[in-house]
Amino acid sequence: MPIDETLQVELAGRGYPIHIGRDLEQDLHGKLEALRASGKQVAALVDASVAEHQNRFLSAALGQKNDMAGAQPLSEGAGGGSAPIPSLAIPSGETSKSVGQLSRAWDFLAASGLDRGGAVLAIGGGVTGDLAGFAAASYLRGVDFVQVPTTLLAMVDSSVGGKTGINIAAGKNLVGAFHQPGAVFIDLNLLRTLPPRQFAAGMAEVIKYGLLGDRRFLEQLIETSRLDPTHPELVAVVAHCCRMKAEVVLADERETAGSGGRALLNLGHTFAHAIEQVAGYGAYLHGEAVAIGLVLAARLSMRMGHAVTAKDLQRLLDLLARYELPRRLHAPLPLESLLSAMQRDKKTRAGKLRFVVLRSPGNAVTADDIPPGLAAELWLEAGARQG
Ligand SMILES: NC(=O)c1ccc[n+]([C@@H]2O[C@H](COP(=O)([O-])OP(=O)(O)OC[C@H]3O[C@@H](n4cnc5c(N)ncnc54)[C@H](O)[C@@H]3O)[C@@H](O)[C@H]2O)c1
Repeated sequence: MPIDETLQVELAGRGYPIHIGRDLEQDLHGKLEALRASGKQVAALVDASVAEHQNRFLSAALGQKNDMAGAQPLSEGAGGGSAPIPSLAIPSGETSKSVGQLSRAWDFLAASGLDRGGAVLAIGGGVTGDLAGFAAASYLRGVDFVQVPTTLLAMVDSSVGGKTGINIAAGKNLVGAFHQPGAVFIDLNLLRTLPPRQFAAGMAEVIKYGLLGDRRFLEQLIETSRLDPTHPELVAVVAHCCRMKAEVVLADERETAGSGGRALLNLGHTFAHAIEQVAGYGAYLHGEAVAIGLVLAARLSMRMGHAVTAKDLQRLLDLLARYELPRRLHAPLPLESLLSAMQRDKKTRAGKLRFVVLRSPGNAVTADDIPPGLAAELWLEAGARQG
């Protein structure tokens, strides 16, 4: 039975299933064929590296010979059944979350004959998911979409929750829409071709869930041997993260809660965004910057007198080290730039820095009253340089 677990996200009127397991290509194919049999057009946006490395999965799921040449929808079928699902390869990397790729996606959806009843299939990591989701949110004022995440980060985070968008010159994720998927298919076998460094970066987000809301889960992560794409515990771990994310999203879909709510998912992220911005995008993977951000958030919580002990901090450092994730800056970054990047972060409210801190491991809260000098001290400890 390839689907091990199906979670239902219970958003009023827009609820959707998250299927988690291994070897899901036939289940996905069946679902897509059912959609098409009901008269819906389906068109797929596929990350170029996934197109290259996951030939068998794509052929089975999309019913096509996967020789995706880039811009052109495929027209050749694998034989038998209905015509193949047209697919567009999205170049790998953050630069694809752009107006240019969005416009290319819209043209592709139009050329594929998608009408208002159609559905967009996103097969890739967070980049393809965010781009395809926003293309689906905006094309014909909104069509359905189905997420097939292929990175650990996308499985536990970006494919669930409905945030979609692209980057513009002024910053990351500044243009987008809330658009919930109609279904999410998480096939852990897809992780077998993911570069190990990308898998580790996803683990930073997994660890984040334990730290922010579930001490028992955090303990499990500490006690379990190092997870990898074939680990028997991985299905349960991914399912747990999706469940936690879905619960937070249900309570505060548009991140409007005055305190707590969806903002808690940003544990470590105010620091992480500053690192990514000042180091230059690409110097650190997002999850790597989050790992350093988690350490800084834990240290900040200790300084504020919360119930985070030196032993708790050491256990976090050890867990991150198990995945070879950074715990401090590789090379010094200028303190002033880091502080001003934090001020510009879109999580800033009324000019005040808003952090997520730990009351204790497994229990995060939002805090707006951080003494200004404290953030500077923490950055210096993490390897920032003055002047
Ligand atoms: N929407 C949200 O709620 C949300 C949440 C978190 C992050 N994000 C966004 O997600 C993006 C990062 O996502 P990501 O970390 O998945 O990065 P990504 O999509 O860039 O994928 C990482 C790399 O792995 C490759 N890849 C993906 N799957 C593969 C596979 N199975 N085999 C081989 N190679 C594979 C890709 O080509 C890419 O080079 C960022 O743009 C971030 O803003 C969105």
